[in-house]
Amino acid sequence: MTTTKGGLADVVAGQTAICTVGHAGDSLHYRGYSVSELSQHASFEEVAYLLIYGELPNLQQLKQYKQSLHSLKGLPQPICHLLKSMPATAHPMDVLRTTCSMLGTLEPVSANHTAQDIANRLLMLFPAALLYWYHFHLEGRSIDVMVEADSIAAYFLKLLLGKFENTIALHELIEKTLDISLILYAEHEFNASTFTARVCVSTLSDIYSGLTAAIGTLRGPLHGGANEAAMSLIQEFETAQAAEKGILQKLQDKKLIMGFGHRVYKTRDPRSDIIKAQSQKLSVALKDKKIFAVSQKIEEVMRAQKGLFPNLDFYSASAYYFCGIPTILFTPLFVISRLCGWTAHCIEQLQNNKLIRPTAEYTGPSPKPFVPLNDR
Ligand code: COA
Repeated sequence: MTTTKGGLADVVAGQTAICTVGHAGDSLHYRGYSVSELSQHASFEEVAYLLIYGELPNLQQLKQYKQSLHSLKGLPQPICHLLKSMPATAHPMDVLRTTCSMLGTLEPVSANHTAQDIANRLLMLFPAALLYWYHFHLEGRSIDVMVEADSIAAYFLKLLLGKFENTIALHELIEKTLDISLILYAEHEFNASTFTARVCVSTLSDIYSGLTAAIGTLRGPLHGGANEAAMSLIQEFETAQAAEKGILQKLQDKKLIMGFGHRVYKTRDPRSDIIKAQSQKLSVALKDKKIFAVSQKIEEVMRAQKGLFPNLDFYSASAYYFCGIPTILFTPLFVISRLCGWTAHCIEQLQNNKLIRPTAEYTGPSPKPFVPLNDR
């Protein structure tokens, strides 16, 4: 008989040296560094390096890393053709999943093109592919992806918004918010998509297969898709008062409120306060009177009624909204960041590999004699 709860809750399914989730008062550490300190003092590129290479870079290493990232910007012609041929109605997560798989055929893994090289390439290629597809289908134009930018956050914003000057105070705040959000989303132990990637590479399949499978897993609203679902929920309400009434009704109807609750954290998601503070700063800067107030009211009702706290996805939704990012690009941003964690886990899995293949408790019929076709 099975001894586990549903959904493998509380099951320790392996070992990792990459990340601790919730083990010390609902905190989060990447390779020993608290995510709160990383988000205050480091850039996303430093965190990407930490996850992909195992150590924080020194000044020289960071400079070289950023230079090498920016040399990896281009989109191969076959990828441009592929992006143009995908329908405008496709979900951008499907666009990234398909692009990832296609790149695996064009730039396959080899001794000279390792998992680390591939992660770096995808850090630059995913924003370019996503926004190339987005502008082509929305405005019928092929954008130039070879623009100058001194961070991945700035690169994404320049490709999305065209004119983006991070010398303007508001743009600086927007870039900082996106950079922090990429840090917060970068890694989270044995979450569903990371576990998927580890299962995949444990068969000795390649990293592209692991990442492609992980993107498909992240897409669902119980996982990465929650930030888009949270935004749709927030936008249902015109006022905080309407939000209170609406959420109470949804709870009465036993509906899930997206962006709340967590499988591992029990009292708080340590990332939520960090992104909430950024969302609040942007709300003030943009003189928003609705979105942040509605969000806060939803949080208040969820705490009072269900004792549930917002997870990272809830205030990421309003933060991204204030950054001018369309809702359909929220979960793809999560991909751009989490690919660092996925890569770190794939590498770790393969360093001490054992095929991941659990067993199941059988609940079907007892053995019975075969009935020939004509007698059925
Ligand atoms: N809205 C309403 N009720 C919720 C809820 C939410 N977001 N999250 C959990 N609950 C309730 C469940 O209905 C359940 O109530 P019950 O005991 O009366 O049946 C109880 O809280 C325990 O939840 P459970 O579904 O067992 O927790 P889980 O560990 O299986 O699920 C999540 C964790 C994250 C999947 C779940 O909280 C959820 O669906 N959240 C919304 C989606 C989301 O934000 N995902 C991103 C996660 S980072």
